[in-house]
Amino acid sequence: MVFGETVNGVQVPETLNRKEFQRQFGIIGESLEMQELVQVIQHVAPTDITVLVTGESGVGKEVVAQAIHGASKRAKKSMVTVNCGAIPEGIIESELFGHERGSFTGASGERKGYFELADGGTIFLDEIGELPLATQVKFLRILENGEFLRVGSSVARKVDVRVIAATNKDLEAEVRNGNFRQDLFYRLRSVNVRIPALRERKEDIPLLFEKFIEEFSAKNGIRFGGMTPAAKDFIQHYYWQGNVRELRNVVESMLVLERGKKLDVDDIKKYLRIPSDERNLPVLVSKTNDFDERQLLYRALIELKNDMLDVKNILKNVIGMNGASGGNQNSSPNAIQENMSLAEMERRMIETALKKYHNNRRLAADELKISERTLYRKIKEYGI
Ligand SMILES: Nc1ncnc2c1ncn2[C@@H]1O[C@H](COP(=O)(O)OP(=O)(O)OP(=O)(O)O)[C@@H](O)[C@H]1O
Ligand SMILES: [Mg+2]
Repeated sequence: MVFGETVNGVQVPETLNRKEFQRQFGIIGESLEMQELVQVIQHVAPTDITVLVTGESGVGKEVVAQAIHGASKRAKKSMVTVNCGAIPEGIIESELFGHERGSFTGASGERKGYFELADGGTIFLDEIGELPLATQVKFLRILENGEFLRVGSSVARKVDVRVIAATNKDLEAEVRNGNFRQDLFYRLRSVNVRIPALRERKEDIPLLFEKFIEEFSAKNGIRFGGMTPAAKDFIQHYYWQGNVRELRNVVESMLVLERGKKLDVDDIKKYLRIPSDERNLPVLVSKTNDFDERQLLYRALIELKNDMLDVKNILKNVIGMNGASGGNQNSSPNAIQENMSLAEMERRMIETALKKYHNNRRLAADELKISERTLYRKIKEYGI
């Protein structure tokens, strides 16, 4: 294909230069890391090669998957996204590979699985680290020769699907712990697009910030009142545990709630939540400097303050509830907790964690020390 080739007046993605490619697929970032990453994406997109996209939660794994599909020759067909962590283990194989009529209780008719639905296009298997071991064997078979069996069938079927998988887990560690098959890991990692955490590419922060300000100002009809130099510096050096997603959420809340005010550091801090997983001080990803050290201490203090506020709020709620049901408002928190059912306590903890992480189920599950699959199940069970 010749550079600059166009089809019906639209430039073909694989012939775009890097900046145009990023504009077309909404990938913001000019850091060296992002430039290299985009070049890899441009390189692999037009092929049918399986790609493993890795990186912390919120770094943009789905954005990258969309770009790979969008710039591939399969772009006109759809990309089917499957969140492996959200599907209960018992039905995951039938969801992925389909089933025959009567293959299990409740299977009243035959059904196509996601792989068949994605035939001719791309399947994006998100949270691949959550795939049960038994299903991993079957997935490997599809990767190797495109073949699979519907549940309840012994007839091998074939699909033509490009696979993009993503995870925020350390798959190598999962292999060591016996949770992930080594052969599948080797097969997947042949092309691994690793997206660095936002804090590892700080130069991209102002660009993303500006873009999100632009987006949310237009959406809400609010003028941005600007920031002090100290506030700009703070944003660029903050830890951003939730990466681009967290930055985006903070920009939106700040813009809407501060309405045209010129922002200083204190205004920004109000919108930052420091997750308790980060308590293991002081682990630094990059070179230590005074600012990083100060920030670590600073984060620890904000975190303590937030924890205290959480405890205060929980107590307030619990006391309020007890008062409403005719109990003694002055009774001790322990006595009140004894009255509360285990399920109610669990529900509250889940709600609190979800709120804390702006409904990011992965971070909430991490905090609650349960798997995402269990969290999904409980959300459904409690109707949260
Ligand atoms: N480079 C980028 N340019 C513009 N927006 C981005 C970029 N990276 C991420 N985003 C935005 O950040 C948010 C999170 O991105 P995305 O959903 O792709 O992250 P993720 O890595 O898949 O997260 P998770 O692991 O939690 O699923 C989205 O709103 C996305 O549009
Ligand atoms: Mg994602």
